[in-house]
Amino acid sequence: MFLFSFSLFSLVLFRFVRADDVQPFTSYDNDFVDPDFIAAGIYANTTGGAQETITSWAESLSAWGPWSVTNKTILAPSGNKNDYMSWAPYFWPNCTGVGNTTVLTPQQIWVTCPYIDLDGQFNPDRLTIDNIGEFFNLSDSILYNALAHSFQNKSSSVYSQNIARFVDTWFLNNDTGMNPNLNYAQMERGPTGQVGTHTGVLDLKGMVKIVSGIMSLRKSNSTDWTANMDAAMISWTQRYITWLETNKLGIEECASLNNHGTFCFNQLAALKLLVNDIPGSVNASNTYFNGIYKGQINSTGDQPFEATRTHPYHYRNYNLAAMITSARLLKYADPTSDPWNLTTKDGTTIRDAMNFVMTVNPNTHGEGDDVAEIYPNIAAIASTYGDPNGTYVAFLKAGFPEYAWDADFLWDQPLAGDGVVTTSNSTGSGSGSGSGKSAASTHRGLGVLSAAILALLVGAVVGW
Ligand SMILES: *[C@@H]1O[C@H](CO)[C@@H](O)[C@H](O)[C@H]1NC(C)=O
Ligand SMILES: *[C@@H]1O[C@H](CO)[C@@H](O)[C@H](O)[C@H]1NC(C)=O
Ligand SMILES: *[C@@H]1O[C@H](CO)[C@@H](O)[C@H](O)[C@H]1NC(C)=O
Ligand SMILES: *[C@@H]1O[C@H](CO)[C@@H](O)[C@H](O)[C@H]1NC(C)=O
Ligand SMILES: *[C@@H]1O[C@H](CO)[C@@H](O)[C@H](O)[C@H]1NC(C)=O
Ligand SMILES: *[C@@H]1O[C@H](CO)[C@@H](O)[C@H](O)[C@H]1NC(C)=O
Ligand SMILES: *[C@@H]1O[C@H](CO)[C@@H](O)[C@H](O)[C@H]1NC(C)=O
Ligand SMILES: *[C@@H]1O[C@H](CO)[C@@H](O)[C@H](O)[C@H]1NC(C)=O
Ligand SMILES: *[C@@H]1O[C@H](CO)[C@@H](O)[C@H](O)[C@H]1NC(C)=O
Ligand SMILES: *[C@@H]1O[C@H](CO)[C@@H](O)[C@H](O)[C@H]1NC(C)=O
Ligand SMILES: *[C@@H]1O[C@H](CO)[C@@H](O)[C@H](O)[C@H]1NC(C)=O
Ligand SMILES: *[C@@H]1O[C@H](CO)[C@@H](O)[C@H](O)[C@H]1NC(C)=O
Repeated sequence: MFLFSFSLFSLVLFRFVRADDVQPFTSYDNDFVDPDFIAAGIYANTTGGAQETITSWAESLSAWGPWSVTNKTILAPSGNKNDYMSWAPYFWPNCTGVGNTTVLTPQQIWVTCPYIDLDGQFNPDRLTIDNIGEFFNLSDSILYNALAHSFQNKSSSVYSQNIARFVDTWFLNNDTGMNPNLNYAQMERGPTGQVGTHTGVLDLKGMVKIVSGIMSLRKSNSTDWTANMDAAMISWTQRYITWLETNKLGIEECASLNNHGTFCFNQLAALKLLVNDIPGSVNASNTYFNGIYKGQINSTGDQPFEATRTHPYHYRNYNLAAMITSARLLKYADPTSDPWNLTTKDGTTIRDAMNFVMTVNPNTHGEGDDVAEIYPNIAAIASTYGDPNGTYVAFLKAGFPEYAWDADFLWDQPLAGDGVVTTSNSTGSGSGSGSGKSAASTHRGLGVLSAAILALLVGAVVGW
């Protein structure tokens, strides 16, 4: 109840202090946007606000690029600057038995102190090498540039040019390109360390977003995505798939029972789409749904492998985002499939996992700041399964009244509910199909009122 009282309060605050304008940038945990949908470029005329947000995100992210694994001063043990590298984020040195830490250099600490795992506690020195942060920005920037490009209805735009430049720098260029392996990802340090761990495969979960973006350019025949680039990217991806399927680290990661396994399989399913191996993509998704998925949602809708983590609210939403992405990938690769109705061994579906997370109070484990992670999941579930009694939309309106200006509102359509009005505050006359701005008869005043009423009701609706 506390959560929802708080939400009502913040709803009112938001309405007074914030314009109905672009949303601040958020990196969604995971998502796959149908490339055919992006290539067609035809969007609901209620998505003008989301379009403005997407274009703004594409532009602000692009200012940080191009990115390259070679942007680091510390090399992997291979000595090869083109090898991707990151350090295990939750591992900390324990120098107690080693010596006086104030006289050890960082390099001495890395190789002499044993490292211990403190789940959920980020070691800040992981950012000394930021290949992971660069890759995150790269993957978001490719997805949002692809969407922004689609609003232009042109074969070339600054957005498609950005993608070509960023893909070339990160993957293809001989000098700056990444070698197609994760041998040194989430490396463990210490006297027996300096080796990558299988959890490092998770660093590249953003490949799903990249595949969405690249495939949409390919399908829309953008002149900036040339046949040569397409062939080079397919070749890179084939070599990386081989690494993922044959290297011990890749094999171990896809054998994980929790979110690591979900993300591993959906990364693989997306990579196979990129190389035009549709049966291979379907097979990767089916291996997940017939395998570890069966144990991931129990009869109460909870996710046992995430509920026991130190940040259970985050991890439940994190794996939920990955399950949603896996379902989208399977449905895309095999339109006759029915992933949304697939049940676990306890008879539950992805929607049951969503309904359970909605009952969890993030403050129980001090995760109030992570509440934003639930909203994209709710939008995805509501648009996929429908929202006959308005429960999902009521939850969104109560906690995140600006949700219709968020990027995912563009593709989480139709977001069923009570007729929420989702236009931007611009007054363009476009049809919403490629103009980047939609006709904007806003019902904002009504929106505030109905949102407030719904927020009052939501304790009753969601409090079950
Ligand atoms: C949006 O499209 C619907 C049909 O899809 C139409 O009925 C409605 O008038 C349009 N609204 C505006 C503001 O153009
Ligand atoms: C990263 O590397 C690329 C390619 O060399 C370069 O263009 C870019 O400026 C570098 N970025 C930073 C922040 O050093
Ligand atoms: C740190 O190392 C010391 C000495 O080797 C050991 O006694 C202690 O248990 C270690 N601490 C943790 C948290 O592992
Ligand atoms: C650790 O080394 C520093 C610098 O030499 C010194 O000031 C400090 O007293 C030492 N601490 C211990 C516990 O030996
Ligand atoms: C990534 O983008 C964020 C803004 O969203 C920025 O703060 C950060 O410095 C960027 N990092 C890199 C390596 O581009
Ligand atoms: C990049 O490397 C490949 C293989 O080593 C070589 O065939 C190609 O000519 C190189 N391209 C450039 C632009 O140097
Ligand atoms: C792209 O080109 C192909 C082959 O020429 C054509 O079939 C397809 O309709 C084009 N797609 C778009 C979105 O223009
Ligand atoms: C489902 O999993 C949660 C978290 O582990 C646990 O608390 C709950 O008891 C489980 N439900 C059943 C019916 O086993
Ligand atoms: C679940 O199955 C029912 C019955 O076949 C179907 O109507 C529905 O569309 C499926 N749900 C989803 C989200 O695909
Ligand atoms: C809302 O609708 C869903 C799907 O039809 C149903 O399973 C659920 O019980 C409903 N919830 C309430 C509170 O009516
Ligand atoms: C939307 O309205 C706000 C003020 O209400 C304004 O600052 C912003 O520029 C407007 N956005 C657009 C795209 O017109
Ligand atoms: C794109 O532009 C062409 C004309 O150049 C037009 O026929 C088509 O309808 C536009 N598509 C969209 C989705 O607006």
